[in-house]
Amino acid sequence: MERLEVKNLNHSFGFTKILQNINFTLDKGEVLAIVGPSGGGKTTLLHLCANLLDVEEGSVTNTFLSSAFAFQEPRLLPWKNVIDNIAIGLLAKGEKKNEAVKKSQDIALRFGLDKEDFEKFPKDLSGGMKQRVSFARALVVKPSLLFLDEPFSALDIGLKKELQSILIDMISKKEISILFITHDLMEAIRLSDEMLLLKADPGHIVKKFRFDVLQNQRDDKYVYGKSAEILQDNEIINTFELELK
Ligand SMILES: Nc1ncnc2c1ncn2[C@@H]1O[C@H](COP(=O)(O)OP(=O)(O)O)[C@@H](O)[C@H]1O
Ligand SMILES: [Mg+2]
Repeated sequence: MERLEVKNLNHSFGFTKILQNINFTLDKGEVLAIVGPSGGGKTTLLHLCANLLDVEEGSVTNTFLSSAFAFQEPRLLPWKNVIDNIAIGLLAKGEKKNEAVKKSQDIALRFGLDKEDFEKFPKDLSGGMKQRVSFARALVVKPSLLFLDEPFSALDIGLKKELQSILIDMISKKEISILFITHDLMEAIRLSDEMLLLKADPGHIVKKFRFDVLQNQRDDKYVYGKSAEILQDNEIINTFELELK
């Protein structure tokens, strides 16, 4: 069984404790969201899970067969064009160049890029196009587990919905498992099976929420309704320091 298991995880930078006693499990086919305010340790937690940062105390056990990471900023290689940026992971896996290019072109089109964009370099792309490339690059390798760090927060609402609906389609077909972090409650409600609330100073999990309606059945009414309901929750109010007037 492919799964990610985090046990009694603590992390400090210098003398500052950032994460305290984090425990959760992500099973294959599931989408887990970790939600909390900025500065609460979300990125640190995701980096520990993705092995981008060394675990010092506690454990992270990842038995997923493959994984990919999409960052908050697109982080494209400026000297490579769109297709070559997308193909990086495939080439690193030893795929033949023409196969890698073909797959990269197919996924670029799926993510709303045009043929005319294929040869463009990052400096000639809009922010939205860069984010499309970043998503395509993460997904072209067909990762079993996808790590997402606030990938939609800089996008306009149209592109956000478009990229989310591609993910929702993959989630519904059980093609992918996702661990994602966000400060956006609605995003978590739209995409996740389970949402963990991470309270700051130091980051610790205070509450879990489960959403049992299938992602492809969640319309705006569901998402807004759930958000309104959850915004009444005392732990949410405390965690985000919301002042209700
Ligand atoms: N490499 C680092 N060295 C020292 N402090 C860091 C480092 N990375 C993050 N921090 C600090 O850890 C805290 C949590 O940061 P982060 O994990 O980025 O939170 P979030 O993603 O929830 O905004 C912040 O106070 C941040 O300044
Ligand atoms: Mg962050």
